[in-house]
Amino acid sequence: MNSLLITGGAGFIGTNLVHHLAAVTDHRIVVLDALTYSGDLSGIGPLIKSGRIEFIEGDVAAPETVTHVFARHQVDRVIHLAAESHVDRSIADAEQFLRTNITGTYVLLEAARAAWPDKDPATTRFVHVSTDEVFGDLGAQDAPFGANDRYRPSSPYAASKASSDHLARAWQRTYGLPVMVTHCGNNYGPWQFPEKLIPLMILNAKDGAELPVYGDGRQIRDWIHVDDHCSALRYVLERGTPGHTYLIGANCERTNIGLVEQICDRVDQALQRPAGSARALIRHINDRPGHDQRYAVDASTTHALGWRAAHTPETAMAGVIEWYLDHDRWCENIRSGEYRGWYRSQYSS
Ligand code: NAD
Ligand code: TYD
Repeated sequence: MNSLLITGGAGFIGTNLVHHLAAVTDHRIVVLDALTYSGDLSGIGPLIKSGRIEFIEGDVAAPETVTHVFARHQVDRVIHLAAESHVDRSIADAEQFLRTNITGTYVLLEAARAAWPDKDPATTRFVHVSTDEVFGDLGAQDAPFGANDRYRPSSPYAASKASSDHLARAWQRTYGLPVMVTHCGNNYGPWQFPEKLIPLMILNAKDGAELPVYGDGRQIRDWIHVDDHCSALRYVLERGTPGHTYLIGANCERTNIGLVEQICDRVDQALQRPAGSARALIRHINDRPGHDQRYAVDASTTHALGWRAAHTPETAMAGVIEWYLDHDRWCENIRSGEYRGWYRSQYSS
């Protein structure tokens, strides 16, 4: 029986996507994930235990592993998420970003090319999951990013994702591989590693720790709840056209400082603390080198498939905050890596 391969399925978006696809589709799902610092099986563990999905611990940049997974599981569809994903880490040390994001994508594309001699888009599909960050940043008056915009990546992370996008499109054009590329804005929701802005601010506010805002905090991101990203990826997988590019966003541009203040007020409410307690923890610190000023996504390419986002930060943030306050043990354990070995012994095949 054929399988849908989800790489990076133990990460933030992967965990949410695996749950979504396991619930609403009949696909036989195989997850390939190297369980790096941001990969964790507590989210998808129950689906592995119940037999609904299969988990393989392995590196997307290792050709033998990837070729074996394609052959053993008769992979006919891929959603490729596995990546190094944090901009600040890429600024500190880019090497692993080049290996995983560029070489890893190359290895997967080659494995798909070898495994799918017909490259029939009716039976085979490769969704390459990218970011809006490849387009660089926008001025205040610029139109949102569109599918034909030029690439102008600013960070080593964005440059590595841009490189992988070029490989994916080249394999589509040269070899006819049925590849679709998606570009999504900033995600928020459950299971996000607490180095990213939103979970970091929630947990620090809870703990009474400082809330580090880079520079003046006037930078703008276009935020999307991870559930909306996951449903969009399903639409692209099922209805997208190979060779096409899909931009995914919820039309929710917010300044960092505005979002942080919103989180502060909601954490105070949730913990019944005096108004303004968390805001007093905000500290403006040195700006990120090369910091992009504004991202905004024109999602009309994905709207044309019939997809729409259902959430905004204002409607969804209270639930997200509640999730992190309820899962503070998970946050501590993924930060320290404490559960990794145990889950590995429980669930790896
Ligand atoms: P994440 O860091 O939470 O998860 C990445 C996952 O990939 C982890 O489970 C990790 O173990 C795995 N991984 C890393 N290196 C690997 C390797 N060599 N082999 C196999 N697995 C490996 O990241 P995320 O936020 O879930 O992002 C997933 C994808 O979505 C990335 O490609 C990212 O560029 C893209 N994306 C993310 C966002 C966002 O806001 N988080 C927005 C747009 C696009
Ligand atoms: P982040 O969650 O790292 O996502 P990305 O860099 O991929 O957009 O950061 C979101 C925004 O928040 C970005 O403009 C950087 C800013 N930021 C802070 O101001 N303080 C922080 O501690 C972090 C992690 C991010």
